Amino acid sequence: MPQRTLTTDRLTLVPLTDDHLEYEVELDSDPEVMRYLDPGRPRSRSEVTELHHGRLAVADRVPGLGFWAGFTDGGFVGWWILEPPERPDQGPVRGQAELGYRLLRRHWRRGLAGEGARRLLQHGFADLGLDRIFAETMAVNTASRATMKSVGLTYVRTFHQDWEHPLPGTEHGEVEYAITREQWLGR
Ligand SMILES: CC(C)(COP(=O)(O)OP(=O)(O)OC[C@H]1O[C@@H](n2cnc3c(N)ncnc32)[C@H](O)[C@@H]1OP(=O)(O)O)[C@@H](O)C(=O)NCCC(=O)NCCS
Repeated sequence: MPQRTLTTDRLTLVPLTDDHLEYEVELDSDPEVMRYLDPGRPRSRSEVTELHHGRLAVADRVPGLGFWAGFTDGGFVGWWILEPPERPDQGPVRGQAELGYRLLRRHWRRGLAGEGARRLLQHGFADLGLDRIFAETMAVNTASRATMKSVGLTYVRTFHQDWEHPLPGTEHGEVEYAITREQWLGR
């Protein structure tokens, strides 16, 4: 199944294309958005352009997965992702996806990250037949952890990764949250 456009009450989630590059540049230019994200500082346009190609390629790795650009009536708000696992410690690629989200600061605390994430969980389990959806963030990223919890993921583990330029708070590690298909069906 190719990646599909999804809707919620307020959001239209559109598979990422080259048309969305300027929005990605705007998102990653905000130091607050990048605070808990590698490299912990705003990214330049050329850095984002390079990342953009990698983001588009996610959709080719597993049919149905990828990045979605999210829009309300007022325009672009951010992106959401369902991505196949990359690292060996994340478990099998088959049947699993990693959930992520990144919103423009002016749209924070409006319930939009959660609204889009709930739609991706529904899509992942009901349409794509996934068995497990997980999410990772720095332990100190309170907003991201709260969003994971709010949409039904539960804490799995704290782990430590080697970073070339560790961000403040790295000493507290990364956390994984997850929800299985059974848990989602019984929610
Ligand atoms: C993380 C992020 C996407 C959350 O977006 P958001 O639209 O503000 O989140 P929502 O409004 O949907 O809130 C979801 C839940 O998290 C809670 N929450 C959000 N931000 C919070 C914060 N700073 N502190 C405490 N709780 C917070 C909300 O109260 C809500 O919980 P509830 O449903 O129990 O009321 C946003 O802060 C962001 O883009 N941050 C920068 C990028 C980033 O760190 N992404 C995650 C990388 S892993």
